[in-house]
Amino acid sequence: MSGKISASLMCADQLRLGDEIDELLALGIDYLHLDIMDGHYVPNLTLGTDLARLLASHCDGPFDVHLMVDQPDQWIPVFAEAIRREGRTDASRDLITFHPETTWHPARTLDKALSIDGISAGIAIDPAQKPDAFEYLLERAEIVLVMTVNPGYAGQKLVPWTLRSVEWLAAARERMGASFLIEVDGNVSWENIPKMKEAGADLYVAGTSSLFDRSLPRREAAERMRAMIDR
Ligand code: DX5
Ligand code: ZN
Repeated sequence: MSGKISASLMCADQLRLGDEIDELLALGIDYLHLDIMDGHYVPNLTLGTDLARLLASHCDGPFDVHLMVDQPDQWIPVFAEAIRREGRTDASRDLITFHPETTWHPARTLDKALSIDGISAGIAIDPAQKPDAFEYLLERAEIVLVMTVNPGYAGQKLVPWTLRSVEWLAAARERMGASFLIEVDGNVSWENIPKMKEAGADLYVAGTSSLFDRSLPRREAAERMRAMIDR
């Protein structure tokens, strides 16, 4: 399977978001990554439901919604509804991930997310969490996002031991015969992509470290990244 790219929209030019999205999709970017931060679980605030709805009326996605919020049970259905499009196909299936430590009953939250039409759901692992604590969720999760920086901001440095979480997840997937995608998010840079690929990543969040690297034309950055993640 070849790797996929999810462009982090918080790193795009917010004043030209529609044009930025059109350009990303024309370059063949696989997902549009939406970081939802509540200023509580993480010390930052980003976009809300109105903007998510507007983006979904502008393009067909697919969206990759990363919820960094408390009370994901409340927010998963709200964001799923905001990005819902008529006539969504399997190819434009959206992803939603939540951090399991933000809910008392992560298995119930995951099941609720999985039951929503047109959504692939999974969990996001903070650098402070060990993935084996969530092994019981892996049979059902469709994606596991590994935060490779501390959540909250773009432009940070890799937390190196998170690569071991990626390795552990790839081995667990093999052992269990499971099929979840492994996503890496944070400082996915030219230097770190080979290590992430080696560890077993499938889906790469592209931010200021790659696709939005202002020293390179966007097309060149996209092509460079694609060549690096293809297996
Ligand atoms: C975190 C976000 C961004 C993204 C930014 O959940 O998705 O931080 O990783 O990319 P970099 O780290 O390359 O600026
Ligand atoms: Zn993210």
